[in-house]
Amino acid sequence: MQSGVQAPEPLQVDLGDRNYNIFIESDATASVKQAIDLARSEGRRVALVVDATVAGTQSAFLDALGREIPCFEVPSGEKSKSLGIYGRLLNFLAANHLDRQSLVVALGGGVVGDLAGFAAASYLRGIDFLNVPTTLLSMVDSSVGGKTGINLDAGKNLVGFFHQPRGVFIGTSILETLSKREFASGMAEVIKCGMLDDEELFRQLERAPALTPGSSALAGVIHRCCVSKVRIVKADEREMASSGGRALLNLGHTFAHAIENVAGYGTYLHGEAVAIGLVGATRLSVALGRIEASDVNRVERVLIRHALPTSLRDSMDVDRLIEAMRRDKKVRGGAPRFVVLKAVGTAETVDGVDIDLVAQMWRQLGAT
Ligand SMILES: NC(=O)c1ccc[n+]([C@@H]2O[C@H](COP(=O)([O-])OP(=O)(O)OC[C@H]3O[C@@H](n4cnc5c(N)ncnc54)[C@H](O)[C@@H]3O)[C@@H](O)[C@H]2O)c1
Repeated sequence: MQSGVQAPEPLQVDLGDRNYNIFIESDATASVKQAIDLARSEGRRVALVVDATVAGTQSAFLDALGREIPCFEVPSGEKSKSLGIYGRLLNFLAANHLDRQSLVVALGGGVVGDLAGFAAASYLRGIDFLNVPTTLLSMVDSSVGGKTGINLDAGKNLVGFFHQPRGVFIGTSILETLSKREFASGMAEVIKCGMLDDEELFRQLERAPALTPGSSALAGVIHRCCVSKVRIVKADEREMASSGGRALLNLGHTFAHAIENVAGYGTYLHGEAVAIGLVGATRLSVALGRIEASDVNRVERVLIRHALPTSLRDSMDVDRLIEAMRRDKKVRGGAPRFVVLKAVGTAETVDGVDIDLVAQMWRQLGAT
């Protein structure tokens, strides 16, 4: 922390011997530098793993951390969560003589966080890593909770470990260079958080003007999302609960994963697919008699305000979407499991939803 600047109270993630802090501030440079300098002063080697776009837009950040630190640049995009790049990263860590005491620092969005976290989890059977998320999605979602991993040809996130970081450093000003579309994509996860766990947050999003990277309310909103996610993860770290638990974070995702899979990855940003999925899950909650039909309008209004879609851009085949839902990693006993709302701000998991009803939901979202 810079001298004279009051350090913000970090959010503590209390996971027994794997406790760590999430720092949320406007500019995280000084805090990250302090953590790296501390490690180096203890004789520990440090390696940075940086998204290539971020390396370009945030060169002052990298200058401040110290250009002498070995730095592995990850080509931007989901394709980098691959066995090939993972292998190159492990070889890079070895070539730079990282040992059991060393530290990996991830600087990027969910792609870099998942990849670098997975490399740190597996290199020498696990070394420490710090996460410095640079997208809104990674600040409110992927950097919290300890899931790391990469993709296989057969599907997304099929290999990974639970490996908690030693610290998460969120600096909201880094979002200034993020595209509007990527920022909106992250907002889908923020809205999801309000819908499933934090009614007050949802009401705030309904009332206030649309959030932007410059909004003074943004840090507080990110904090609320992290608080929710930490609480849910703490109660069910490895997603073992027979109902509810960590699976609640998948609100909208059974629909979203099917959209991404059938449309082809990259056609919709993840958050865009989640936004449509949130509408699907809300409509399903109405159909199952959990909430009022007017709640669909509330959800759609908040999504639209944040530049997110509420239905499919182009029609997609209902049967293919349902087939993709059946293949989802989270399927139990061949039937997709859904997260539905009990009310706006509270969610539950449901099994055994009639597939004809699901098909009806898809048609309401624009599938044929
Ligand atoms: N581990 C988890 O619990 C978890 C949860 C949700 C999602 N994920 C994963 O997260 C990934 C998606 O993360 P994402 O949405 O952050 O995508 P991303 O990491 O691909 O980043 C999105 C784009 O933004 C660019 N970018 C990043 N920071 C920037 C900045 N500050 N300025 C300008 N450009 C910037 C990147 O180069 C990239 O092109 C997926 O792989 C998904 O599986 C993981």
